[in-house]
Amino acid sequence: MAEPIVSLLDPEFEDDPVGALARLRERAPLARIGFPGGPPVWLITRGEEIRAALSDPRFVMDLGKVPGHQGMSIAEELLASLDLSEEIVDYSKSNLQAQDGENHARLRRFVASAFTVRRIEALRPRIEEISARLVDAFARKGSGDLLVEYATPLTCAVICELVGIDEADQPQVRTWMDEYTSADVDFTTSIRGMFEYLRTLIARRRTEPADDMISALVQASDEDGDRLSEAEVISMVAVLVNAAYHSTAHFIPSAVLTLLDNPDQLALLRARPEALPHAVHELMRIASPIPTAGPRYATEDLEFVGVTVRKGDALTGSLMSANYDPRVFPEPERCDVERAVRRGEGHLAFGAGPHRCLGARLANLEGEIALDHLLLRRDSLEITVSRDKLRYRELIPAGARMFTAFPVSL
Ligand code: HEM
Repeated sequence: MAEPIVSLLDPEFEDDPVGALARLRERAPLARIGFPGGPPVWLITRGEEIRAALSDPRFVMDLGKVPGHQGMSIAEELLASLDLSEEIVDYSKSNLQAQDGENHARLRRFVASAFTVRRIEALRPRIEEISARLVDAFARKGSGDLLVEYATPLTCAVICELVGIDEADQPQVRTWMDEYTSADVDFTTSIRGMFEYLRTLIARRRTEPADDMISALVQASDEDGDRLSEAEVISMVAVLVNAAYHSTAHFIPSAVLTLLDNPDQLALLRARPEALPHAVHELMRIASPIPTAGPRYATEDLEFVGVTVRKGDALTGSLMSANYDPRVFPEPERCDVERAVRRGEGHLAFGAGPHRCLGARLANLEGEIALDHLLLRRDSLEITVSRDKLRYRELIPAGARMFTAFPVSL
């Protein structure tokens, strides 16, 4: 019998995603989901199996690696629907998120050293400084949108400084990034603008190197003397900015909301601020804005959790479902900032396997500093609309859960 197709556009997924996913998870470890106009996708619902699938080399990001495949991947369909030059489409296909195996590992090696514990911890004083400046300006004004006036300027400045985008250009980069996720703007213009800007900047760093990541990428060779091509440098910088900007900016208000709605947990952290780094993991589990991993494709016919998955089938994991799986997290809907988690059984908000979030440490650090400055060092932050007025916009079903606005007073 054909699997029933579950629509993630069903209002239950919008109104109560945690509850809807729990029902799906208890029904089956693998559900068939569908989007209008798109192919059906297998959705893995349980934590352990998601972790296994995201680490399984039989599932690949690049549909071109599936022997004898025909047609376009979900990402290629999306790109083809936009009015973009072949060059820009190529940048999007050559970024590390779209690669598998050795080529993915090779690309990741070029940037991994910037994300070690030591290198990320070294950014702490500068992130503190940027955050403190933004909080002071916000507090002087009294009220506003936490996303627009604190979270996005913070995450934009941090990732731009990390890669080497000049301060003077950051407002323009922010505009492009905001347009990119806006339903009201023709965002192909923003994508073109961003890539054109990166191309020029990278060419400039080639002739006039600075002490930054872009210059290092232009100069660097890996162990085999292999260099990144121009397109690979451009797509690497674009993917870092894109992956870092909205995700962390929307995590911050989401974590603020979680703590305000759990005053006992907030009180605990105010009494013991040293517990905050651990608490960030629990908040990431509950409040991550990225509910689903990117689609993978089966390279062969195979059995997965007792279900036959055909070669070329698209498959993904519900990270949100994994993070609320009671098999891993007892009383998953309870926020417990002191929750003890066994090694290897932490949350899946950053995914798992070779594509696990490269910026996880940076996201945790930014989250920690933001919560410290907004809620621990002050006790005045209030959301100035009722909870039911806080709305999410999902550009694609199961895409990032982004607040439309987050009005607060400080
Ligand atoms: C709250 C913030 C963040 C969340 C929840 C998040 C989540 C994720 C997830 C779930 C993935 C894996 C997707 C998949 O397997 O399909 C991922 C990948 C990635 N993330 Fe993050 N991320 C965050 C912040 C950041 C930051 C600050 C950076 C900094 C550069 C970053 C860079 C990346 C990159 C480069 C990848 C692709 C890695 C690869 O394909 O090898 N992320 N992220």
